[in-house]
Amino acid sequence: MTTVSAPADIAVVGLAIDDDSGLIATGHASPRLSWKLQSQAADVVQLAYEIEVAATRAFDGAVSRSDVVKEARPYLAPWPASPLESREVRWWRVRAHTNLGLTAWSEPSRVEASLLSQSDWSARPVSPISNVGRETAGPVPLLRRAFEVGAPVVSARLYVTSLGVHEVHINGRPVSGDLLEPGWTVYPKRLLFAAYDVTALLAEGPNAISAAVGDGWYRGDLTWELTRNVYGATTALLAQLEVTLATGETVVVVTDANWRGGYGAVRSADLYQGTETDYGAEPAGWRAAGFDDGGWEAVRVLDLPASLEMRAMPAVRIVERRKIELAAQTPPGVPIGLDAGQNLTGYLRIAARGPAGARVKVRHAEVLDTDGSLFTEALREARATDSYVLDGRPVSELAPAFTFHGFRYAEIEATAGVTIDAVTAEVMSSDLRQIGRFACSDPAVNQLAENIRWSQRGNFLAVPTDCPQRDERLGWTGDIQVFAPTACLNADCRSFLGGWLRDLALEQDRGRVPHVIPDVLAQLGSKQGCAAWGDAATVVPWSLYRTYGDLEVLRAQFDSMKAWVDWCATRTEPDGLWTRDFQFGDWLDPDAPPEKPAAAKTSAGFVASAYLAHSAGLVADAAGLIGQAHLAAHYRDLHARTALAAWTRWSEEAVRSPTGCALAIEFAIAPESEHAEIGARLAELVAAAGYRIGTGFVGTPLVLPALTRTGHLDVAYRLLLNRDCPGWLYQVDRGATTMWERWDGIGADGSPNRASMVSFNHYAYGAVGAWLYQTVAGLNVDLSQPPDAQIVLAPQPGGGLTWAEAELETPYGRLAITWRLEDGTMTIEAVVPPGAVAQLTIPAGFQPPAGEPSIRLGAGEYSFRLSSSTTVPAHTDRATS
Ligand code: BGC
Repeated sequence: MTTVSAPADIAVVGLAIDDDSGLIATGHASPRLSWKLQSQAADVVQLAYEIEVAATRAFDGAVSRSDVVKEARPYLAPWPASPLESREVRWWRVRAHTNLGLTAWSEPSRVEASLLSQSDWSARPVSPISNVGRETAGPVPLLRRAFEVGAPVVSARLYVTSLGVHEVHINGRPVSGDLLEPGWTVYPKRLLFAAYDVTALLAEGPNAISAAVGDGWYRGDLTWELTRNVYGATTALLAQLEVTLATGETVVVVTDANWRGGYGAVRSADLYQGTETDYGAEPAGWRAAGFDDGGWEAVRVLDLPASLEMRAMPAVRIVERRKIELAAQTPPGVPIGLDAGQNLTGYLRIAARGPAGARVKVRHAEVLDTDGSLFTEALREARATDSYVLDGRPVSELAPAFTFHGFRYAEIEATAGVTIDAVTAEVMSSDLRQIGRFACSDPAVNQLAENIRWSQRGNFLAVPTDCPQRDERLGWTGDIQVFAPTACLNADCRSFLGGWLRDLALEQDRGRVPHVIPDVLAQLGSKQGCAAWGDAATVVPWSLYRTYGDLEVLRAQFDSMKAWVDWCATRTEPDGLWTRDFQFGDWLDPDAPPEKPAAAKTSAGFVASAYLAHSAGLVADAAGLIGQAHLAAHYRDLHARTALAAWTRWSEEAVRSPTGCALAIEFAIAPESEHAEIGARLAELVAAAGYRIGTGFVGTPLVLPALTRTGHLDVAYRLLLNRDCPGWLYQVDRGATTMWERWDGIGADGSPNRASMVSFNHYAYGAVGAWLYQTVAGLNVDLSQPPDAQIVLAPQPGGGLTWAEAELETPYGRLAITWRLEDGTMTIEAVVPPGAVAQLTIPAGFQPPAGEPSIRLGAGEYSFRLSSSTTVPAHTDRATS
């Protein structure tokens, strides 16, 4: 390996461990390590790396050093030292052997371990006695504990979770902006906790830690049956505060029998129903050390949950604040109508003035009815209402606790004497890093891309949900199954979906995947599993692997993937086809009767069997990759047998519907020799429908790729750009700011659809987003491939677009492409991050430079001018320009 020093401008930067929580400590004892090369040099690649791990930042004590590991990928390298112990801090740094020489050691990066074992916990969950076993909705319990700190504080950590949803303060200041913690997981098997650095909140002398614990998913209403107490009837807080003093001593304050319980302003709080807050009922100063809690009640101490796991994904937070304009004057007694200008998930924060006892009520809706009133019918049993009683202070900041609403519009009703000074919409989401962006010359397509992004934001809230507004908000598997490839490009979903997949595996019942994860439908007696929904078990891990290159995801999920496919195989008939059992099928096919969303044009048996074949193929691929090659043959064979049987039975029928054709092509159900003919048939069907969409949840993600693959790019563009109903841009023209559940959510006359399922924030049809990145802009990343084949830039202009661009923060760094058409010339600009290699495919109809239709692009910036007849190469990487 070379030891020549690299030019000074090549550096190793951006060190990160595989933990996206943003918390002070990690639950990984052997975290995997990633970094980036930073360089202005052309064509730089990593050939090998070395990592050092030490106990100090100066690396002056014992240092563990890895071998020189021959590896081109600067991401997810194994931890090269002994595992971390609970609370241990270590430092690590990297240097890279590149084709241009050896870099200097990177700046060191700190890693701290959280509590890694159950035995680290001396805290036990506590609940005010009167909150134990409370089955009906009621006030949110408060908990507090005062304590002394006898010397200056050097550092302090709070490890915390709850049965319920909690927020914690120390000396009256919040420990974080994290909301609805600890999120929603299969609590009995996996209860996440967090670790916060709270050093700055403590002081020598008297201190107090305080918390409120809402019902959340643990005890609040869930599903359209408004089932309560799904996980238990007692909410409780588990907290362990460890304070290191200047004297070297440690003070540990844990939830135990010394805590006191009470109640305050929040009289009820529910995710679906909203909150009732009476500010006059708040005990003054209860979060402060000096508060007299003698009148408060004792707490019940519960057993330590067996399922504690440190959170590795981002929490739910306020990700944006949008000030809402208030109409100049609303006559007294008339509700104030508000428009946030964007359908979103979150709540309103209201600055209000009024006498003690005055009331304010806020209702929410996604759309307005034709008469201008809030269209709340679509919320079904979710009241989505926040109400407040003022306490007479000069200005009150009204905001609900422990809830969220899906809304664009709202109405504020207030009793006499109340003035509303200001309103802000606070947007809630799991705070995922946004890594991708797409734009093009058509503003309507850009609005579509924005709508997709907003639906992802609004539905990535602790779990990937179907919708954020009505009495569901559940982790519907089918929705994320179709949306995952798009989701993974918009935001870094690795830890968010990776965690959810672990819950999926935990909820599997002999391989069967329930319809929603966490499985709260089991409470309603559902024991079903069905195709395209349960296939989240295979498709989602595969998407994560392709986009983020994390083989561990496949390794961790492999048993789950395999078990799902094995279970599906037990549901087949002797002919190998899955024709029994209820199927959602091509759900919400636009031609299905409004109240029969499963009655699609494509038969459910074909959809189910095609998915079985597809997932069997994914299991075979995964088996090969994780060293289980002996299993691959079986699943490869299952794929082939199922595909053959399905095609033998349904080929005639399948080519009569766009979803049937798209499945046949994209899942390779039909033999490859027939794809061209089926593609032509698909193009005819789309044209015959006037380029209006004819697919439901299953067909929609596949129809544009199938047309593109079989040479009907023009038809694909016409389908994308169609403005009639059903169609993506029909929604945009109707003013949509998020993706709708139904193609006809709002009719041509502007009236909302009154079917029983009408959400205006459902990401499933946003699955088209991947095609915008991959085909329109031409940005393709597949990290399952060897380094030279991982990135393909292959723009396919069409539809009259004059330019498009996309960028993606890949594990190597920022990858970007822009193309522009002008006077018959096409300009392509590309940025390939250091360490990566891309292949540029010259679009059909343009003359490739040097006659090669595919050009290798090493790290650097590029610009090509192509004409349909002659090519003017203008290759200018940074090193030469
Ligand atoms: C949800 C979906 C889900 C479906 C099951 C609906 O109520 O909102 O998006 O996938 O049920 O088919």
